[in-house]
Amino acid sequence: RIAYVNGRYVAHRDAAVHIEDRGYQFADGVYEVCEVARGFIVDMKRHLDRLDRSLRELRIDWPIGRKPLEIVLREVVRRNQVFNGLVYVQVTRGVASRDFLFPADTMSSLVVTARKVNPALAAKRAEDGIKVITVPENRWDRVDIKSVGLLPNVLAKQQAKEAGAQEAWFVDEDGNVKEGGSSNAWIVTKDGVLVTRPAEHGILRGITRTTIFDVAAKLGLKIEERSFSVAEAKAAREAFISSATTIAMPVVAIDGQTVANGHPGSTTLSLRQAFFDVAE
Ligand code: PDD
Repeated sequence: RIAYVNGRYVAHRDAAVHIEDRGYQFADGVYEVCEVARGFIVDMKRHLDRLDRSLRELRIDWPIGRKPLEIVLREVVRRNQVFNGLVYVQVTRGVASRDFLFPADTMSSLVVTARKVNPALAAKRAEDGIKVITVPENRWDRVDIKSVGLLPNVLAKQQAKEAGAQEAWFVDEDGNVKEGGSSNAWIVTKDGVLVTRPAEHGILRGITRTTIFDVAAKLGLKIEERSFSVAEAKAAREAFISSATTIAMPVVAIDGQTVANGHPGSTTLSLRQAFFDVAE
C-alpha cells in the first residue's frame, strides 16, 4: 500500500509524520473520508468544499491547491488499485514545538491514504441492518467542523460495540437525536416522510446526507428537516444512518428495542439502491 505524506508517495508501513505535528498533540486538524465506488471518488467536490469550510473555520492554510489535491486523491486511489473503498484526507496545522498558540510560518501537513472495502460485506450488512444505542451528547458545540478530535466519538462507538450495536447516537438535553458517532441519523414516518435534524443544529452536515436529499427528490420522497426524539425513532416505520462509509444503512434496533418489524425498511433500501445513480 502507498500513502501520500507532505509531497511524497511512500510505502504505507513507513508513512509517518513528526512527533510534534499539532494533529498528534492537539488534534489541531481536520479530515475527510470519501467513498470510492467503481474507481471513482464519490461526491469529491462536496467533500473538498466541506474541507475548505473546516480549514477556514480553524484558520488552517490549504497545504496545497485544490486542483493538486484532487490529483493526489485520484493518484492515491490509483496507486492502491482501489476500485471500491475509501480515501482519507487529513490536514493539520503542521509541525511546531508544542505551544497552544498558532505557530508562525508553519506549513500545514497533508496526509492521504486509501483502502479497499469489500462491497459484498456492506451489502450483507444492509440486508441485516444495524443496531444503535443512544448516549448523552458530550461533544463541543463545533461539531459542524470535521475535526480529528474524535475522542467522544471513539468512546461512544466502543460503548456501542460492547453493547452489541454498531453505532451510537448522541442525544441532546431535550431527548432529541443529534447524529451518530460517525454518521447522520434519519427516520421514516408512518406517512413515508424522511426526517433528519437540521444541519444548523449541532451536527456535521454530512455529504451523504446532502446527496440523499437529491436521491429523495428523484424518488419523489418528502423530507422534513426537523429534530426527532429517541421515542419517535423507536416508534418510526424505519430508521437509518448515512455516511460515506455506510451510504444509507438500515437501523433495526435502538437501545435494544426493534424498529418496526426488526427488518430493514424498504424506503431505506430504495435510497441505498438509487444512491450511486445520483451521486457524482
Ligand atoms: N464520518 N457525522 C459525523 C460525526 C461523522 O463523523 C460523519 C462521517 C458523518 C457523515 O458525513 P458524510 O456523509 O460526509 O460521511 C456525520 C466519517 C465517515 C468518518 O469519520 O469515518
